[in-house]
Amino acid sequence: MSGIEQARKTAEGLAYSTGFGNEHSSEAVPGALPIGRNTPQRAPLGLYAEQLSGSAFTEPRAHNRRSWLYRIRPSAAHPPFVRTDNGAVRSAPFTETVPDPNRLRWDPLPDPAPGTDFLAGLWTLGGNGDATQRTGMAVHLYHADSSMERVFSDSDGELLIVPERGALLVRTELGMLRAAPGEVALIPRGVRFRVELLDATARGYVCENYGRPFVLPDLGPIGANGLANARDFRAPVAAYEDDGDAGRPVEVVNKFCGNLWSATYDHSPLDVVAWHGNHVPYVYDLRRFNVIGSISYDHPDPSVFTVLTSPSDTPGLAGVDFVVFAPRWLVGEDTFRPPYFHRNVMSEYMGLIEGAYDAKSAGKGGFVAGGGSLHNMMSAHGPDRETFDRASAAELKPQKIDDGLAFMFETRWPVTATGQAAGAGHLQRGYDDVWEGLSRNFRP
Ligand SMILES: [Fe+2]
Repeated sequence: MSGIEQARKTAEGLAYSTGFGNEHSSEAVPGALPIGRNTPQRAPLGLYAEQLSGSAFTEPRAHNRRSWLYRIRPSAAHPPFVRTDNGAVRSAPFTETVPDPNRLRWDPLPDPAPGTDFLAGLWTLGGNGDATQRTGMAVHLYHADSSMERVFSDSDGELLIVPERGALLVRTELGMLRAAPGEVALIPRGVRFRVELLDATARGYVCENYGRPFVLPDLGPIGANGLANARDFRAPVAAYEDDGDAGRPVEVVNKFCGNLWSATYDHSPLDVVAWHGNHVPYVYDLRRFNVIGSISYDHPDPSVFTVLTSPSDTPGLAGVDFVVFAPRWLVGEDTFRPPYFHRNVMSEYMGLIEGAYDAKSAGKGGFVAGGGSLHNMMSAHGPDRETFDRASAAELKPQKIDDGLAFMFETRWPVTATGQAAGAGHLQRGYDDVWEGLSRNFRP
């Protein structure tokens, strides 16, 4: 059986535990999870107990994150890490280029070189903040044609993986997730994982969030339900790798303060037999997003499409929001229905998972799946000329927008491009042209 077939078989019928931010517990072997205490004198079945803290011990209960892992070998048993090539991964602070006020747009990444796994295919577009200060975020893209054999963990932040092409089997310390295009997977800070391919190639986006972990946004007057519903988030159940007493060499790569470090363990670190806690990976199907919108006139600001938000110390001001433009009805009367012209103190990176986005024409040289646009702080953007003309003249009968799935990483600080992104062959030249020809219609 090929690697892909094997991974597909594993991914079929995976079990999950549901909910967002709640306390999960799972054991792959009955009796592996201690009852009534976290660290009994001898953990069950000869396992080692280990706490993984995703927040300071003393953070308020609402923000506190930790999981208890019961594993075959403690994580502490490893050889020294040594620096390894960062590949195309870059980290905050981003200083390779000066922040650019211009509107930028990229085509998809070119195909990867044969033998590229998820980590080797991780390509940083830009970001903000400082990884060592746990502030800001980075925008990465990935392309791969091979499953990882090594294991990766990110000390610098959590990783929100947004597949655009090709389904992924993500094996984590806490168990396995399947994430296909239209779904997103989140790997919490520090959790080790391996990405295996369920299709011949894979491509997508990653938001690396250095700041406070993503949470669901408050709903205010929307009420108790809506947007992304907590029960639709799926955490894995415990699953472990055990190579017996003999073990096997496994490369473990750790991203730490912007650099990649490597160590070869004599066993797989994905050896957690049971766990409980709330610092957990999860997967979410964006098609389950409950889209809220206007049923009279105008449309709400796109914050109403927020799936996940990373709060800052200032209420309402996110380090980064993850926003989805999911299929929805437009019924506004006397309303320009596509997203309006806009200048924003927040900075917006937009990507497209499938189809088209209602404010931009698709097709070659346009806003295409796998590509992305960056509209930095106060840069003027909005519908292109073609969209403006069409929407201004459209008959306003109810209309279903159902041919695309776009998303946005919206962040409080400008995104500075990496050198490789600013000089990329797939950076579109002449993006400004889409707003050319918006004619002077003023007739006083
Ligand atoms: Fe905007």
